[in-house]
Amino acid sequence: MNIRQRELASFDQSNEEYIIGTLQNTNFKIDELENIDENSKLVSEIIESGLTGVIFKINKDAVYNLKRKRKTSKVKNIDGQLSFLNELICRSKIIENQWKFASFQNNIVKTIYANYRKGILLSEWIDGNHPKALDIDWIQDTINIALDLQKIGLFEWDLSRGNILVKDKKVKLFDFGYCYQFDPLVAYNSEGLNEPRFHALERLETRYLMLALYRYEKENGKNKTLNLFKEIKRAGIISYVDHHAYLESQGANKQVLVHFQNIIEEWRDGIADMDALEALYLKEVLRSHLLDIHDDLSGKSCTPDTLLRISHLKELTNQYTWRQIATFVDHTEKEKFLQELESFHENAIMYQHS
Ligand SMILES: Nc1ncnc2c1ncn2[C@@H]1O[C@H](COP(=O)(O)OP(=O)(O)OP(=O)(O)O)[C@@H](O)[C@H]1O
Ligand SMILES: [Mg+2]
Repeated sequence: MNIRQRELASFDQSNEEYIIGTLQNTNFKIDELENIDENSKLVSEIIESGLTGVIFKINKDAVYNLKRKRKTSKVKNIDGQLSFLNELICRSKIIENQWKFASFQNNIVKTIYANYRKGILLSEWIDGNHPKALDIDWIQDTINIALDLQKIGLFEWDLSRGNILVKDKKVKLFDFGYCYQFDPLVAYNSEGLNEPRFHALERLETRYLMLALYRYEKENGKNKTLNLFKEIKRAGIISYVDHHAYLESQGANKQVLVHFQNIIEEWRDGIADMDALEALYLKEVLRSHLLDIHDDLSGKSCTPDTLLRISHLKELTNQYTWRQIATFVDHTEKEKFLQELESFHENAIMYQHS
């Protein structure tokens, strides 16, 4: 366990309360919330797709979202087991900083009340939809919101489609189970300076965009896909240039500033011409799928999308020269890489969650 996991696990083992907000301005009593289930009259919808919690839509004086902690998370690793507690800690930190950036008012779900020991998290209901098309507007907003979170020391790891809602063209984030604290002035992310691979747009690409672009490519062909990818990188450059300026104004250390500058330059070079764009696309596709497959396998929580990512990697390995692929994957021999993909496939079938 790392320090964060040890701290959360020891809090979890204690009897200490963790409460956010109050029920005073609502008509709820705590035991009423505790007893909410699928038979309750107030419940108009139940969403069971989440691995950490079960979601109840509740109609009372207003429309609420009640997230009830599952007894055991469906993500079978320590971060999964601690994700509900972690989410409450992040929500508190966002509330503390709620006036720092407009995005916290506009783009982050409002927390009304949470009680860790009772496994209850009550929020406003967001009347939105998960993104359907790859519109640059919501992508740009999502990058900006993730970077605002980073500015207050929160690194959001799980920018998957299921964790993004869009309402009237406005993005809302609401799931902070895998959002970890760090100091943005001296670290790249919550892994300190050890993992420069991980950053806001990388998280969105890895968890969502590169698989969506794969589907988009099947329908629209390579050229349109590369153009859309270019738009995404342009959006990234705009947001990262602003973020870099902010970090500089706050006195971030050299290493962090150079890190962001390098990413911006890599993207600028990557969108300069079609060959560079295709090479950058291949790099981000391979990286995204490999990381996400590892993530699903480590949590023993795979889906048909995990299998799709694996088969796409096989396709690419046979489509490009091994020299092009080998630069971006941790293997020297093509056969070994294909064997590894085969074993990923077997495990991903074993770990399909219901
Ligand atoms: N405040 C909200 N308003 C409307 N819908 C919501 C809200 N919060 C969550 N949802 C819906 O419920 C689903 C599951 O919620 P959430 O992502 O918080 O659960 P989870 O168990 O933490 O998920 P994960 O599997 O990503 O860990 C979301 O994909 C979203 O569709
Ligand atoms: Mg979620």
